[in-house]
Amino acid sequence: MTDYRTPLIAGNWKMFKTGAEAVQYAKALKKQVADVENTDIMIAPPFTALSAVSEILRDTRIGLGAQNIFWEKEGAFTGEISAPMLISAGCQYVIIGHSERRQYFGETDETVNRRLKAAANAGLIPILCVGETETQREAKKTFSVLDKQIKDGLNGLILDEHHPLVIAYEPVWAIGTGKTASPDQVQEVHAYIRKQIAKNFGNMLANAIRVLYGGSVKPDNVSGLMALPDVDGALVGGASLQPETFSQIIHF
Ligand code: PGA
Repeated sequence: MTDYRTPLIAGNWKMFKTGAEAVQYAKALKKQVADVENTDIMIAPPFTALSAVSEILRDTRIGLGAQNIFWEKEGAFTGEISAPMLISAGCQYVIIGHSERRQYFGETDETVNRRLKAAANAGLIPILCVGETETQREAKKTFSVLDKQIKDGLNGLILDEHHPLVIAYEPVWAIGTGKTASPDQVQEVHAYIRKQIAKNFGNMLANAIRVLYGGSVKPDNVSGLMALPDVDGALVGGASLQPETFSQIIHF
């Protein structure tokens, strides 16, 4: 079963880098990770850089992801981007339901679910982001929040071990703050997420899905996180913006 769980180190660039900057980065990263064999790598530049970056990444093991997706294939939806558009721009992955999308752009578990279905049906690998805020953690609501995000987010999705899904646990209080969750906190939540997947979708899938940790991952804390039994990778924001730093994380 572990075959399905090759470690994945994913970079979420957020709203950083022009097309030209992204191309320069991709060329540098390609050289720095040429020796990597047993780790999957993904970068998610802004939409405007996807096509240009995909040209550079062709024939490398660096995958390409988008930071969002809309559920309709085409239509009068100003400002939105569909699955066929992402695929034609060279994407294999898409990040869905990042806490910044939930917080600033009104995304709910229901819209996250529609995006996930569109991505999965089109053959993209969705990276579903879940995580509690600091207030929710203090109120001991972490597990109930995650429960709802997972249950409602994945509602009605056809999932089995051949249709890969990635879940990223990103405690909102650890994103961009320099505060990483402790190894105990991370392992506890990751094991819980896997248990919930087993409950709702069966053991086969629970053992096959990759659960990434995200929130202030850096070169100096990545190996401790990757050593945890239920951590299958990392979703890296700030520290993925420099190819040298991101490469150090990939070489955890
Ligand atoms: P960070 O962001 O690594 O800058 O904390 C992680 C994320 O938002 O995916």
